[in-house]
Formats: sequence, C-alpha cells, structure tokens
Amino acid sequence: MLDKVTDINDLQKRARRRVPRMFYDYADSGSWSEGTYRDNTDAFSRIKLRQRVAVDIDNRSVRTQMIGQDVSMPVALAPVGMTGMQHPDGEIAAARAAEKFGVPFTLSTMSVCSIETVAQATTKPFWFQLYVMRDREFAEALINRAKAAKCSALVLTLDLQILAQRHKDIKNGLSAPPKPTLANILNLAFKPQWCFGMLGTTNRSFGNVVGHAKGVSDMSSLSEWTHEQFDPTLNWESIAWIKKRWDGPLILKGINDVEDARIAADIGADAIIVSNHGGRQLDGAAASIDMLAPIVDAVGDRIEVHFDSGIRSGQDIFKAIALGAKSTYIGRAFIYGLGAAGEAGVTKALDILHKELDLTMALCGETDIANVGHHNLLNPPSTA
Ligand code: FNR
Repeated sequence: MLDKVTDINDLQKRARRRVPRMFYDYADSGSWSEGTYRDNTDAFSRIKLRQRVAVDIDNRSVRTQMIGQDVSMPVALAPVGMTGMQHPDGEIAAARAAEKFGVPFTLSTMSVCSIETVAQATTKPFWFQLYVMRDREFAEALINRAKAAKCSALVLTLDLQILAQRHKDIKNGLSAPPKPTLANILNLAFKPQWCFGMLGTTNRSFGNVVGHAKGVSDMSSLSEWTHEQFDPTLNWESIAWIKKRWDGPLILKGINDVEDARIAADIGADAIIVSNHGGRQLDGAAASIDMLAPIVDAVGDRIEVHFDSGIRSGQDIFKAIALGAKSTYIGRAFIYGLGAAGEAGVTKALDILHKELDLTMALCGETDIANVGHHNLLNPPSTA
C-alpha cells in the first residue's frame, strides 16, 4: 500500500485525505502569517551541498549517539501534542515505530495516550516532554510519572509559556475529541477509517492532564485552557527547580538565540534543541536552520546541540549535521506518516529519511556521519 510512496510529501498528501480536517490543519500550520513556518523549509533549500566523486563509499554508517544513547541515525521523534488525534492510539504507533527503528520517541505533555499507556505498550524507555504548569504540584507529578515510567530523558520546552495564535485552529474550532457540530459530522463522514479506529480505543482526550490539572474537565478550547494552565513566569531559575526533581538527562527545547544558548549551557543541561517550535510560536523569528551555526559556534564545545524545525528530507538532516548539530528531531515528517498509515506510515517516514540521509552522505563523498561538517557545504557559515 505504501509501495508508491517515495518521499515525505507523498505521506503528507495521504494524511490530508485520511485525517479529519481540524487535526490535519493543526499539524500543517504555523502561527499568524505562517512566515516563519514557510521560511523553516525555504531556508533549507538555500543551503547547497558539495558534490564529491571518486571516493570509496562502499561501507557507510549514519549511526550516532544522542545524550549518550545509541541511535540508528541522528533523528528523534519530536514531541507533538494530540498525536493520538492524527491516528487512533497515535502515540503508541509512533513510539513502537521509533523503538523498532532505533531512534528516540518523545511523548508530549499534551499527548492523547498517557505516559503510563505508552510505557505499557512499549519495551524500551522513551523520552518525556514537559510543559510547566502554574500548578507546580502538577508539574512535579508529571515528572514523577515520567520517572516511574522509566523515561530516559526529560525534554523541557521553553518556547511555549503562552500560546501564539494559529488561525486555522480557531476557524476549525479545534477540540479533542471533535465537537459534534454539523461541519465536523460532515467532515468525519468522509474519514471512515479514522472514525472506526477511534471507536476502537479509549484514548480520545488528553491522557496526561485530564483529571489532574486544576479545573480541567472540559478540553473544548485548547488555547483558553493553555493560557489558564501553562506557567508564563517560567524562567531560567525555574530550571533549577526542575533539576532538583529530575536527575536524568535534561534537554532544553526551543532555543533560537545565541544569548539564550549561552545561558542554557551555563545552567548545565545535557543538550539544547535549536528550534522555533516548527514555526508555531513567534512568527517573524529566524528560520532555526539559520540560527544553528552561530549557536554551535557559541556553545558547541560545552553542550550537545540538537536541531528541529523544517526537516522534510534526509538532505535536510544532512545539512543540519553539516552545520554542527549532533542530531535532529522530526515533527510533521513523522506526523504525516502517522496520519497516512499509522505505525507503518511512521516506519515509512523513518525509512525514507534514513535512505535519503545515507545516499546524500555517499554522494557528498562521506562514509561516516561523524565526519560530516562545514566542508560538505558549498557556502560554509564562515565564508558565507
Ligand atoms: C508540535 N511541537 C510541540 N513541541 C513541544 O515541545 N510540545 C508539544 O506538545 C508540541 N506539539 C506540537 C504539535 C504539532 C502538531 C506540531 C507540528 C509540533 C513542536 C515540535 O516538537 C517540533 O519542534 C516541530 O514540529 C519541529 O518542526 P517540524 O519538524 O514539524 O517542521
């Protein structure tokens, strides 16, 4: 069924056909004008690779490590809220695909399947992403649940203390599960596979937060709820509070500025993720790939630098590694696979990226991802 799928764009087209509109749009959108969202992908196409020939490229490896953990390629699944609305039990499907592929899966605080449900359905430790709530007891409870589920890293998201506006979500009346309005009923009528799948699962709302956060019973308005619950006072000192409660690897996500990267390195986190939240937060911010080289230059000798925002191909992954990232994360690239075909679709997305990365590396005359660097770029940052 996926034989004719050749790239992430094909998966995206299939996801658009199969996923209810409000959830497809939730993924395929950025904030306000979507300028940064578009620029994240456009910026990749401006980076050119050096084609090298007549090198023995017979034996190749893209295996590496992220925060000391072995990975089959420099890719992790980024935390994505409501993954379980793209496909029934979506978090389980994505976690299983990642586990089999040998790359980390990161479960969002705003997932549909809870930490415990995903832990029961998988055999290897996954990572947990934390949004810090005003109710610190609840934030602490989430950290403790991640510990109890043996999560092997905590990803702390710093770029969503408040939620930017995404026009499509407002127009679609985004809610989980969908409200039974006429428009939704008509749309769902054309998505029978999704509907039947949902009937077969009990995971249909926000598994980690419903019933725990103060005053949350109705999740009808995501943005209103986020404004009520997420802590706008979160600051660098809050990280010390988290480090006291979490003794495992800590990854700070959402760094898109050199000065912030320096502070993050001073604080002693294990890694940072250079990211603008996939263009979903500050519209007008720089494409994250344009911020990667200066950030690596400033802190790369002190802290592991990871990257996300805009990756749609193995060539993009190669470019991020060449610019100094130790590894990358994919958001929409796996979400489209999930929407297209569940676990098989996520596996297909990972397979596509792995093949593209391996072949790109070979055509650049490299055999080991560890050796990829500025020399593989036509206009390396120092001479650009
Ligand atoms: C996200 N992202 C995100 N990040 C996070 O820390 N917690 C979350 O719950 C979510 N939720 C979420 C939902 C959806 C639908 C998307 C597309 C993204 C951001 C995500 O982790 C990552 O930073 C971006 O997806 C990376 O950009 P690309 O790969 O999608 O271009």
